[in-house]
This record gives sequence, C-alpha cells and structure tokens, in this order.
Amino acid sequence: MTSKRFDIAVIEGDGIGPEITSCAKKVLDKTGDLFSYSLNYIPVCMGGKAIDDHGEPFPAEEREKCLKADSVLLSAVGGPKWDNCPERPEKGLLTLRKIMECFANLRLIRLFPELSDASPLKRSILDKGIDIMVVRELTGGIYFGEHSISERSAYDIELYNDYEIERVVRRACEIAMKRKKKLCLADKANVLSSSKLWRRIFTETVNDYPQIECTYMYIDNLSMQLIRDPSQFDVIVTSNMFGDIITDEASMLTGSLGMIPSASLGNSSKGIYEPIHGSAPDIAGRGIANPCAMILSGAMMLRYSFDLPKAADMIEKAVENVLKKGYRTRDIATEGCILTGSEEFTDIIIKEIEDISKCNE
Ligand code: IPM
Ligand code: MN
Repeated sequence: MTSKRFDIAVIEGDGIGPEITSCAKKVLDKTGDLFSYSLNYIPVCMGGKAIDDHGEPFPAEEREKCLKADSVLLSAVGGPKWDNCPERPEKGLLTLRKIMECFANLRLIRLFPELSDASPLKRSILDKGIDIMVVRELTGGIYFGEHSISERSAYDIELYNDYEIERVVRRACEIAMKRKKKLCLADKANVLSSSKLWRRIFTETVNDYPQIECTYMYIDNLSMQLIRDPSQFDVIVTSNMFGDIITDEASMLTGSLGMIPSASLGNSSKGIYEPIHGSAPDIAGRGIANPCAMILSGAMMLRYSFDLPKAADMIEKAVENVLKKGYRTRDIATEGCILTGSEEFTDIIIKEIEDISKCNE
C-alpha cells in the first residue's frame, strides 16, 4: 500500500500547549502506522512564545509555513505574562484564522455517557443525550471590526456582509444534512441590526435545504435552553462572539472544557484544528492537563482535511473506551475513577488503538 504523507504546521503554543501537543502527535503517529499515512510536522512559532522569541505574535515567515502546509494543528496561546504587550498573543490566532480564510469553526459538543458524573447537569437531563455541532463564524464580526479606545470611552464594531453570513450558514446546512437535519440560528435580532441581517440571509439560504427544520432563537434564551434541555439541539449556527461564548458554556455540560475539539474550515481542504480551551497557565508543566480535546482535534483533522474517516473513528473510539474503563485526568475525575496524568492517559489511548486494530484484523 502506498503511504500518504501530509505536511502539518504545528503550533505548540503557550501554557499546557507543548504538553498536549506531544500527546496528540503520539496518537496521530500511532494511527499513521496502522492506516498507512505519515505526518511531517513543521514547527511554527505563534503566540506568547513568538512575542518572547521574535518580538511579535505571528512573524511573517511563520505565517508562510502555515499557508504552505496541508493543515494546521494548534494547541492554545496566551497567558497573563503577555497581558500588557502592545500586541497580544491572541492577535496571532486571529491573524491565522483570517489568512487561512477558515470562516467556519465546527465545535462538537458531545457527551460521552461515561462522563455524566463530571457534568453539573442532572442525570434526568443528561440521559436524553448531548450531541450538538456549533458552527461558529470565525473570520468576521466584532473580532475583526473597527476597534477604538480612548481614555474614557471605547467601541468595537460588529459588521457582517451578506456573503460572510451566507457561506457559514450554507456550511451549517451541509452539516445538518448529514446529522438530524435540525438547524437553529442564535442571534439577538430583537436589538442588533447585524442580527437582523443574519436572520434575513439565514432565511434566504435555508430555502435551498427544505429537508432541514430551521429555527431561530435569541442568544440569551438559547443560553438558558442549553442548560434546561440540551438534547433539543442538533446544529447551531451563530456569529463569532456568540459562538465563542456559548461553546464554553455548552462544553461544561459534557463534563469539561478539556474534552471539546474543533475544526476551522474554509473553501479548501485545509483547516486549523484546535481544542476550544485556553492555554491554562495555572496547570502548565505539571503533566496533568486533559489531552482529549487536542487528541480529538487531531482526529477531526484526519476526518475533514485528509479524508481518513476510519483513522478518525478509531481515535474517537479509543478515547471512548479508555473513559469507559475508568481512566480520567484530573478535570474529569469522579469517585472511583483511575486518575492519570496527560502522558499516561495518552499511552493508554495508544494501547487501546492497538487493541482495537487487532480485533479488526
Ligand atoms: C477560542 C478563544 C479565542 C477566541 C481567544 C483566545 C482569542 O477563546 O478559540 O474560543 O475568542 O476565539
Ligand atoms: Mn473561547
């Protein structure tokens, strides 16, 4: 069998970034052995580390490496150390999303039933299941609008053009067609003009998908409904900032922010794959971070950018099995579990992958 080879730009980032990146690489390499693909990792410096080493969050030659690669694997950037820099680490992240034109950020909020005890919700709610794909617009809106601050006043502009809304809504429709065919737009159309435009373009676009059951919900109500009954949602599409906020909220319902991966896609097969959590500087260097979101982001990369669904399935299955066997990192630990550090947890996942592949032989 000929082996496929992919170039991946890897941004280890700050805080727990390097630790969880090495976990994800190990898992990806293991599945590579089994599925005849190989990954060529190209280190890219971005974020706080880039400010320290190069004096700016995302130097031009580092940007080039990302643009040339087949995809980007990214952990998380930022930390209190750089809070007062003229250009913060996060600026690098926003630039990356923009130059790669990754306008659709897919965040999969799925409850592994084994983690029900780690969720703050009641069993009666969790038993109905949580499996929500949030499609967050990623290259527009208030993150990229005009910003201004003077001594005693400031503003940030939420600007959306029709085409920016249309392309991300279309992407959400395509995803909904492969799921339960339910799509909800989260907005604030009772107050914001930008949300009124979202509703108008949403309504026009979903016309092309008559099989999808489409609804709208105000973002404040949706935030409440997510806790009252998350099982009512299938796909949610929303603007950049609303998507940022509701995915942190929704992630906790599944037990931990440390469980949720994401894929950011544009019109090509290239993507950016990153956990939705931050760099967690408070626990950095202690070997206790949950590597799941990072490992599962790697699986999304195999699925969406490299068309290796079987390898992706295997990684996801291995994570599920390891949780079923009771292994946990600290953030998802509950009574009676087997507490492990990041590396040990990763090695157990790798062993599980080996076992699954032997069963499949
Ligand atoms: C995320 C993060 C980023 C965002 C920050 C670090 C700029 O919170 O990916 O959710 O707001 O998009
Ligand atoms: Mn966020």
